[in-house]
Amino acid sequence: MSEPRKIIIDTDPGQDDAVAILLALASPELEVLGITAVAGNVPLALTEKNARKICELAGRTDVPVFAGAVRPLTRRLVTAEHVHGRTGLDGPDLPEPAMKLQDKYAVDFIVETLMGEPDGAVTLCVLGPLTNIALAMIREPAIVSRIREIVLMGGGYFEQGNVTPSAEFNIYVDPQAAEVVFKSGVPIVMMPLDVTHKALTTNARVAAIRDLGTPVGLATAQLLDFFDRYDEQKYGTDGGPLHDPCVIAYLLKPELFSGRHCNVEIETSSELTMGATVVDWWGVTDRPKNALVMRDIDADGFFTLLTERLARL
Ligand code: RIB
Ligand code: CA
Repeated sequence: MSEPRKIIIDTDPGQDDAVAILLALASPELEVLGITAVAGNVPLALTEKNARKICELAGRTDVPVFAGAVRPLTRRLVTAEHVHGRTGLDGPDLPEPAMKLQDKYAVDFIVETLMGEPDGAVTLCVLGPLTNIALAMIREPAIVSRIREIVLMGGGYFEQGNVTPSAEFNIYVDPQAAEVVFKSGVPIVMMPLDVTHKALTTNARVAAIRDLGTPVGLATAQLLDFFDRYDEQKYGTDGGPLHDPCVIAYLLKPELFSGRHCNVEIETSSELTMGATVVDWWGVTDRPKNALVMRDIDADGFFTLLTERLARL
């Protein structure tokens, strides 16, 4: 096997974030340099604690966890306890973490890591609002050319929005940060609702994870049982979309996904459509194609990969 791919996971756990982190920590193809928490699904004090809980669940207290932005760049924080529960990680009863939070500010960790690692060595996996990433780019513009790639869960085009009729949550929480990142010129792979809505945690798929018969398998099934109830009721489907693990699965098996390079711009003016990702899917403008926008997934292959990797923890 070639050298593991170096990644930083920026996240707002959140049950689906948690499953993405477990998938990454179970995969030897990836070297998780650090996990940076951001305010999003729940406030920062909970997202950073939840990240530590998941590292302990995975038996990976060696992975440093950092706290980042406590709120978006300019807008007030909007959270999603109605989806993720009061703790942001409702479902399993995970113990209070013993591992310590790093003292260093997450934005400083992102900047120092990108400046310290070889040029093009580090991939940013972004699972929540893009506040930390934008702050790092503003704090040290020299990191922009050093980032290998940003793979992010966010946005929606054919599926439109999930928190408003036109905006997906991660982008809606901090549209200004998303604009900084999408205009940065860094190569972006975007996992919008158009693809994550095709990765449904059906009863059979959750049962296969529970049937692993391990603490991680049970906890993951409990996370998904809690997480998918909101979307099952909203969309009337068997299971809910498993958003964030699509980011990690792309690094492990990109062939599971298909999409096209498009221009993506962020609505930051209109309150009606604030945070919408305007994807030029049909190429009707000459705006730069700044993102590889995914639209399809081999869902069975995705869940087979996820289940097989969770079995390793
Ligand atoms: O819209 C889905 C995204 O918002 C996911 O990342 C979920 O964790 C929430 O952060
Ligand atoms: Ca998330």
